[in-house]
Amino acid sequence: MTLLELEGVRKSYEDEDVLRGVSFAMDRQDVEVIVGPSGSGKSTLLRCVNRLTEIDDGAIYLDGEEIHGIDENDLRRRVGMVFQDFNLFAHRTARGNVTLGLTAVLGLSKPEAVERADDYLDRVGLADQADSYPAELSGGQKQRVGIARALAMDPELILFDEPTSALDPELIGEVLGVMRDLAEGGTTMLCVTHEMGFARSAASTLTFLDDGRVVERGPPEQLFENPREDRTRSFLGQLTDLER
Ligand SMILES: Nc1ncnc2c1ncn2[C@@H]1O[C@H](COP(=O)(O)OP(=O)(O)O)[C@@H](O)[C@H]1O
Ligand SMILES: [Mg+2]
Repeated sequence: MTLLELEGVRKSYEDEDVLRGVSFAMDRQDVEVIVGPSGSGKSTLLRCVNRLTEIDDGAIYLDGEEIHGIDENDLRRRVGMVFQDFNLFAHRTARGNVTLGLTAVLGLSKPEAVERADDYLDRVGLADQADSYPAELSGGQKQRVGIARALAMDPELILFDEPTSALDPELIGEVLGVMRDLAEGGTTMLCVTHEMGFARSAASTLTFLDDGRVVERGPPEQLFENPREDRTRSFLGQLTDLER
């Protein structure tokens, strides 16, 4: 059952065509991984899906409904986002970061929000850090708070924009571990990441975006082992070499 569909999505900034007609669809419980060179439009694509950026042409549907017909607050609740640089509020504790949307957007009472926040912090392995401020947490812990915050809203889809790119190498695994658990638990995820181990093991579909276009898209094993396009082979080859 299709949850998200992009149809001929175009986006330009002044003199630059960033997305040049992107189309694809994903089902509920799919884990879509998007890879592509820096500047190819990956972040822009994610930002279009929750309307942090408006598209110029084409259409995006969430569960069959064109996203411009959805109230922005509803859309942001239904589509969560995890950012490369965490985007945590420095003056709020881990728990305070998770409760904010629960009270402000979902309208939960304070005790309900705290109970739910603590439950989700526990799920990402941070039960004992609920009272810590971001400055007291490692990068991996901060990102797990970011994931708990997104999950706690009970979204239909979570967008991940290079969630491990700002992390020291030894902290990447704990975040990928949480993402793997979510994937196995049936969370629908649209992930920009260059973690090829994650893509191989967790992705249902891998998309190679270059220069604002989908160059190739398919099961990860197909793109890794038997890509149709030379560009796919050379780009994935470079990423895989970097991981060795
Ligand atoms: N708000 C913006 N204003 C102008 N140009 C932008 C803006 N956001 C992104 N761009 C440009 O769009 C292109 C694609 O950016 P982005 O989507 O961030 O790529 P990626 O995430 O794949 O590295 C880049 O050339 C970038 O400079
Ligand atoms: Mg980006």
